[in-house]
Parts: sequence; C-alpha cells; structure tokens
Amino acid sequence: MKPVTVVHHPLVQHKLTRLRDARTGPQEFRRLLGEIAALMTYEATRSFGVKKISVRTPLEKTTGAQLEKEIVLVPVLRAGLGMLDKILELVPHARVGFLGLKRDETTLAAHFYQKSLPKNLARCEVILIDPMLATGGSAVAALDFLREQGAKHLRLVSLVAAPEGIARVRKSYPTVPIFTASVDRQLNNVGYILPGLGDAGDRLFGT
Ligand code: PRP
Ligand code: URA
Repeated sequence: MKPVTVVHHPLVQHKLTRLRDARTGPQEFRRLLGEIAALMTYEATRSFGVKKISVRTPLEKTTGAQLEKEIVLVPVLRAGLGMLDKILELVPHARVGFLGLKRDETTLAAHFYQKSLPKNLARCEVILIDPMLATGGSAVAALDFLREQGAKHLRLVSLVAAPEGIARVRKSYPTVPIFTASVDRQLNNVGYILPGLGDAGDRLFGT
C-alpha cells in the first residue's frame, strides 16, 4: 500500500493555519487555497517522467528535459475550482476536466451532477484536485469514473484529509498517490473533518 505524502513545507503549514482560521474571509481564503495548491503541485509532480531533448541556446546546443506525458487536471466542483487557476499557472499546457459531485447531507453519499473530461486519458498524468478528503466518497466516485474513462496514471491532491477518507481511498486504490497538507484527527458525526477548516466550498464562495 502506498503511503500518503504529507507536505510539511513551512510555507504550506503557515498558509494552512491561516486557511483553518475561522476569521479568514472568502477573499483571503481563495488566495491561500490557490497558493497552497501551487506549492503542493510542486511536490505532487516530482515523480513525473521526463525525456531528454536537445535544445539550442543562443550559444550552443545542449540537452534538456521535456515532460513525458500530457497532464490533465480534474477539479471536483465546487471547491476544487479554488485550486485550479494557481495549478494552471505552473502547468499552463495542461488540459482540464470537471467532475461535479455533491454530498448528500444526510447519507454523506456523493452524487454526480457534472461529468466533463478530455479525451485520451490513458496516456496522460491525471491529477484529481479537491481540498477536502472527508469520508472519501467523493474521491472514490471521481477515481472510479476516471478509471472507467481510461485514466491509468492517477494521483490525488487534497489539502486536508481525514484518516477515514484516506482508508476508503486506499481500500479501492491502494497504489494511487495521495498528497495532502495535513492528516487531521477524525470526522465528526455529520461528516466534517476535525479540526478541519469547515465547509471549503462555502468558505471559498461566501455561501
Ligand atoms: C466537499 C468537498 C469534497 C467533499 C469531501 O464537497 O469539497 O468534494 O465534500 O467529502 P467526502 O470525502 O465525504 O465525499 P461538497 O459535496 O460539500 O460540495 P461543494 O464543494 O459544492 O461544497
Ligand atoms: N467537505 C468540506 O468542505 N469540509 C469538511 O470538513 C468535509 C467535507
């Protein structure tokens, strides 16, 4: 079983603490979420393969590197949208798919309301992005659909993860790399992460 990568970088942990703070309003929340997402992408893409290519500088020819596979980013709506723009600044050539998933407040089961993915996923590095991994229902539903659509090289980036969510993803996807800024203590009795940061979508969009 693949271990979860927790990004302990001081900048990530500093910004995550500001993000958790209940006094942080939507404007700052949006900025911080994007900044952490970008820092985590640096870690999440570390193992991407590169091939050697030759490049001519103004002075001479040398050998450089080019990413081997195309990148596809898949934010889970709504809250994953808050991570997308800053990640795209790092990988502007990435294609983007969207998965709309909403948790039922009573059963906590995740239901799709939007599925829109680029073609030819099999040859791409697919990064599923969602700030919260709580029960893991949304992540597993998204990974199931991505696999069904042919994605082979998958990884998940979630800012805050509950042990319950990690266990659920690991049960179905033992080898999919998971990157998070924090493994929190537990879920409460209505499926929220403790200590967590509250409802990411609501805080992001001020709803
Ligand atoms: C939140 C969050 C994740 C999901 C995590 O979305 O953004 O997608 O819950 O919970 P889970 O691991 O228990 O499935 P929500 O369904 O509240 O929708 P929203 O982003 O539109 O607010
Ligand atoms: N979704 C959120 O936005 N926050 C949680 O704590 C759990 C699910």
